[in-house]
Amino acid sequence: MSEAIIGKKKGKLEGSTIIITGASSGIGKHLALALVPLKPKMVIVARRERKLMQTARLLKKQKIKVLPIVGDVRSADDRKRIIEFTLKAFGRIDVLVNNAGLGKVNLFVEQPEEEINELIETNVLALMKLTQMIIPIMKEQKNGHIINLSSTLALFPPYSLAVYCATKSAVKVFSDCIREEVREYGITISTVFPGPYNTEFNQVAGIGRSSFKGFDARKLTRKIAKLIEKPKDELIQPWIFIPLIWLAKRFPFIHRRTTDWIASSIWKGKEQTEKELTSEKKLEEKEKIQIIAN
Ligand SMILES: NC(=O)c1ccc[n+]([C@@H]2O[C@H](COP(=O)([O-])OP(=O)(O)OC[C@H]3O[C@@H](n4cnc5c(N)ncnc54)[C@H](OP(=O)(O)O)[C@@H]3O)[C@@H](O)[C@H]2O)c1
Repeated sequence: MSEAIIGKKKGKLEGSTIIITGASSGIGKHLALALVPLKPKMVIVARRERKLMQTARLLKKQKIKVLPIVGDVRSADDRKRIIEFTLKAFGRIDVLVNNAGLGKVNLFVEQPEEEINELIETNVLALMKLTQMIIPIMKEQKNGHIINLSSTLALFPPYSLAVYCATKSAVKVFSDCIREEVREYGITISTVFPGPYNTEFNQVAGIGRSSFKGFDARKLTRKIAKLIEKPKDELIQPWIFIPLIWLAKRFPFIHRRTTDWIASSIWKGKEQTEKELTSEKKLEEKEKIQIIAN
């Protein structure tokens, strides 16, 4: 039995190999840092090299063996590199955290095709394909844990995030299905349903200027770290969503009210962000004209 598995049985992940996609910011970055006390070897992936290296430096300072891989999870070549480099460096893959993802706030009828493609390719296809490549490795090891990031928005889907919610719903259903398929190989599949957390998510989604900032992502990642130590099927955070989901299942009006409230807050955030960006642009143009005139 390998050291990593022995470590896991003791409730520790020391020496295990954990891959985290989307570790250049937000949940992925905080998760990598939250895992430091467990002393795993870490492979961190994202497209923005400078930001990814910042995470890598923080981990190295804490004496963590870390392999940063600059790559796009949508690219077949990059996914192949992630696996090859990980096995070459650390010899095994104990945990995969499929965290890389994004949202785009838009009315569905107005959503550009590229945006729809990016959402589905990143949040669903890349996640499925990376999972499919890693399962045989974990099967051979007779041990592994895959954590997929869904969202509470998959359970309360607001109209302005139709494609995003559909992708996160797909992640939930996909995880539920393969959980049963791979259980006999010693592989656990967990789904994480985060509520609103303060990361770069809003900025990328186009609601970065909204007043609602969300909860502290470090609280969530401490819970995900615990989930890695002690795997379970689902993690819903913050806890307030647990009774809310229960109530919404029994009382459709609670589901409708909650979803409507989320939708209107998100839409207000989009309008506020667009207004601020437009007035900033106008100001910039006015200043340019004044400079030219002088
Ligand atoms: N924050 C929330 O409120 C919330 C709620 C529910 C679910 N989630 C989910 O949590 C996950 C993390 O989001 P976050 O909140 O931490 O947002 P974030 O701060 O924007 O982080 C997203 C991460 O994903 C990476 N990423 C995006 N596209 C990628 C690609 N094609 N290839 C490789 N990496 C990619 C980004 O890195 P690069 O740009 O450098 O590639 C970044 O590191 C997402 O799946 C999101 O849907 C977030």
